[in-house]
Amino acid sequence: MAKIGILGGTFDPVHNGHIACAEQIRDEFGLDRVLFVLSANPPHKFASDVTPARLRARMIELALEGHEGLCLCDLELRRPGYSYSADTIAELLETYPDDEFYYIIGTDAAVRLPDWKNVEALTAGCSFILVKRPGDSPEIAEKAVAALEKAGAKFFNSRSENLADVSSTSIREAVREAGIICEELPEKGLVPEAVCRFIGKNNLYKGLPWTEEMIVADLRSVLKPGRFIHSLGVAEEAERLAEKYGVDRKKARLAGLLHDCGKNVSEGQLVWIGMTKNDFAAVPGGNVNVRVIHGPVGAIVAERRYGVTDPEVLSAIAKHTTGAAEMTLLDKIIFLADYTEKNRKGELFDNVRRVLDRRGPDAAIRYSCDETIKLILKRGEQIDIRTVEARNSALELENKPDTPQV
Ligand SMILES: [Fe+2]
Ligand SMILES: [Fe+2]
Repeated sequence: MAKIGILGGTFDPVHNGHIACAEQIRDEFGLDRVLFVLSANPPHKFASDVTPARLRARMIELALEGHEGLCLCDLELRRPGYSYSADTIAELLETYPDDEFYYIIGTDAAVRLPDWKNVEALTAGCSFILVKRPGDSPEIAEKAVAALEKAGAKFFNSRSENLADVSSTSIREAVREAGIICEELPEKGLVPEAVCRFIGKNNLYKGLPWTEEMIVADLRSVLKPGRFIHSLGVAEEAERLAEKYGVDRKKARLAGLLHDCGKNVSEGQLVWIGMTKNDFAAVPGGNVNVRVIHGPVGAIVAERRYGVTDPEVLSAIAKHTTGAAEMTLLDKIIFLADYTEKNRKGELFDNVRRVLDRRGPDAAIRYSCDETIKLILKRGEQIDIRTVEARNSALELENKPDTPQV
């Protein structure tokens, strides 16, 4: 039976304070291992500028080289959807039924423990080690203990303090502010040198726009696997159509990649992208058919999380679910690529491909709107008025002999 410590976090980036804390606890409690459990997709940090999980995981691997008993746990990285500690403990217990798990928790997190998802399952599955932070008042320490008791947790107080005067936020700020360059970080004892080099090489924390590689890495952990593959397919198809119809290929690729980024957005995350439940309800069409809402929500996520500022790209993402009366060529391409990308299988998709090939984008939009409307009628649901408008407008353009087929 091994005694295993769990140090969870966003690790953006991992720093010397995390490592010092893990080593102190390992020695104090005689732990065999301390797992750095990377929160790949933390539900409370959706809109803030979180670095893609794979890059954070790589920094942990680099940081822990040569530190005995400390290792990366990428369980949450491999599990689609949001990351919750209770799910992780359940998975660890299933894989290592003979081991004992100790969840290392700081006073600030402990205070909020009773509100964590499935806290009963979590406290039943592991013990806790409470670590004070430098400068903690007696009141916060008392509150943390009370919260652990309220949550029914079995816990131990650590004698060690997390002494490292370091925080991930201060590192990000130091890199972002022109005054401190990344190369200076190791001298200040903030991060291991290999992590510092990685930050520099990948231009992290400088407030630069997300690269396509970063967006892909992030979508892989946010979207369900099928949705992720579909998004890559739409990006590729949008680029192909853009080339064919003379639209900016880069814009088409970006809009295609991000067109479904508003899927799987929970209420909690809406708050983090600055939307209230009322705003959500007020999203046009959201009250008619919940399936269409990820279009306009996706445009907001693309802007606030991925830093997309191009109004044409945002418009194409917003309109891809319903279509609209007025659509730019880029809007049309994203709308259609959603149907014609190579992973879509079935008669409907083959028909849209055929109509697009033979009669152009407007005919293909009219056809797909017709099919959508028929389906909605069959289901007895309300039709989003924008789909009707998109259909009528496409029909007009399709039948205008002098309209150049784009
Ligand atoms: Fe979609
Ligand atoms: Fe889609």
